[in-house]
Amino acid sequence: MDELKVLLTRQQIAAKVAELGERITADFAGEAVLLIGVLKGATIFLADLARQIKLDVSFDFIAVSSYGNARQQSGEVRLVKDVDRSVEGKNIILVEDILDTGLTLTYIRNLLQAHRPKALKIAALLDKASRRTEDIQGDYVGFQIPDEFVVGYGLDFAEHYRNLPDVCVLESGSITA
Ligand code: IMP
Ligand code: MG
Repeated sequence: MDELKVLLTRQQIAAKVAELGERITADFAGEAVLLIGVLKGATIFLADLARQIKLDVSFDFIAVSSYGNARQQSGEVRLVKDVDRSVEGKNIILVEDILDTGLTLTYIRNLLQAHRPKALKIAALLDKASRRTEDIQGDYVGFQIPDEFVVGYGLDFAEHYRNLPDVCVLESGSITA
């Protein structure tokens, strides 16, 4: 059995997501925003965040795969699914579950930037700043967390645990992949 320890409760997450939604609403007052979620980890965060933004909001999704096993990235990111519609001239908020090394969001940000959005911001529920290798930071960050492997609220370990309502630490002794 894997051992799970609650790091962030659903109540803490809900309060923080509401706060981020308010900030986004204020920052883009009177404008439309396009949330682009990174599949699959960002889906739950995106669904909750979208409902806290009191603006004209649309969704799109992007999917990337990174080589390496569940915990170790090789540094190579590949686009698996592009956005469905053009981002040119739009206010884009890239929505991701966690900023870790920053490789994934650096790759996606550069890709989208080439299509000249009006604004391009990053919303990340979690930030493991101590692991960063790339020069990138979130504009709307929920929580700074220590360098531990977490699951729940969209985050997975080998596709499991995405549906946990709280963000939990998966104790390292139980990780075998
Ligand atoms: P980065 O490219 O290193 O910033 O990694 C971002 C991706 O790694 C995230 O989208 C997650 O899929 C995955 N990731 C990083 N840390 C964790 C974690 O603690 N739990 C689950 N997935 C993680
Ligand atoms: Mg992910």
